[in-house]
Amino acid sequence: MGLPMKKNTTELKKTITSLAKKHGTPLFLISESLLIEQVKKFQTLLPSVNPFYAVKANSHPFVLKILAEYGIGFDVASMQEMEAVLDLGVKPDRIIFANTVKRPEALQFAAQHGVRLMTFDSEYELNKIAKYAPGAHVLIRIKVPNVGSLVELSLKFGAEPTDAIPLLIKAFQMKLKPVGVSFHVGSQSTNEENYLASLEMASMIFNEAKLKQLPLEILDIGGGFPIRHFDQDKDIFSPMSIQIKKELKRLFGPDVQVIAEPGRAFVGPACYLVMQVVGKSIRGNKHWYYLDDGVYGSLSGIIFDHAKYQYHTFRRGVTQITTLAGPTCDSLDIISVSEDMPELEIGDLIYCENIGAYSWTTATNFNGIPPAEVVLIP
Ligand SMILES: Cc1ncc(COP(=O)(O)O)c(C=O)c1O
Repeated sequence: MGLPMKKNTTELKKTITSLAKKHGTPLFLISESLLIEQVKKFQTLLPSVNPFYAVKANSHPFVLKILAEYGIGFDVASMQEMEAVLDLGVKPDRIIFANTVKRPEALQFAAQHGVRLMTFDSEYELNKIAKYAPGAHVLIRIKVPNVGSLVELSLKFGAEPTDAIPLLIKAFQMKLKPVGVSFHVGSQSTNEENYLASLEMASMIFNEAKLKQLPLEILDIGGGFPIRHFDQDKDIFSPMSIQIKKELKRLFGPDVQVIAEPGRAFVGPACYLVMQVVGKSIRGNKHWYYLDDGVYGSLSGIIFDHAKYQYHTFRRGVTQITTLAGPTCDSLDIISVSEDMPELEIGDLIYCENIGAYSWTTATNFNGIPPAEVVLIP
């Protein structure tokens, strides 16, 4: 039973209602066709860029299996993510270990399993890599502008671009293979300038490395590609991709392999969350509805991802500003204080779209409430 690609409320209501009846709620739906559609969109918009899916965005086995069978590469952040991907039969050369801070045992595991490509941003990390994964192929991750991104990553990661060449030379002296430059403009980067400035910075490092007899071959443009979270949001990625493509062509020769680490752009639009109203009250003249999932569950992206979602109901009628809250006993577990909704009843279904990334993955068991059941749909 699939969800229609085009919004058709009657059809959507029928599908969501029957899935909720069959499986109960909260229910986290992963759509195989929507996931593949996102991959194809990325490949169409950036045809010269080889995507390595960022497993951290959603590590559910359904997602990994679909992408592995489709032939996509993977960006892993830990030994556990690496193992999950290798167990699916993914060849080690389709994996990049793109956490700049790696545990020694994870590096040993990578070396034992032939995962050679990895990022770093300090000399301390280089020492560790040289010791536990000798001969690894390393990309220097540089600090780049993250202006306007939903999640800023340059706060925590990335070497100063001026330190890139000395660090790549150190890598070479440690008998590692310096192969390229990586960056991340921050997640849900709606500002194309972040990419354009980063490409310019990376190209300067490529040019300088060539002069130093250290020719680089891989450019990793990271993740951050934006998606639409709300019905009224514009598609920003499509026009942005035109500029990225132009700059890639202008700044890098055909001998440079360009890779990326999209997470949200692949899995975000591929998933739905279906919840149910399990409680209702009037507090301060306002309707409050308590749902069976919240910020400790699949809506954890509200906290960890700074995300906002659009909440849909099938009920119609006069709307009023209402509060939606989660099911736990913590007052932090408030989903939204300003949803314009008709009066709801206990048992009503509420659903969100575009909730595939940084959601189910960060859900907890707080209050003994298990994360939403995950169901794969066509
Ligand atoms: C190193 C790295 N690569 C890729 C990603 C995926 O980013 P996004 O989901 O914005 O595409 C992240 C997200 O935090 C990251 O830290």
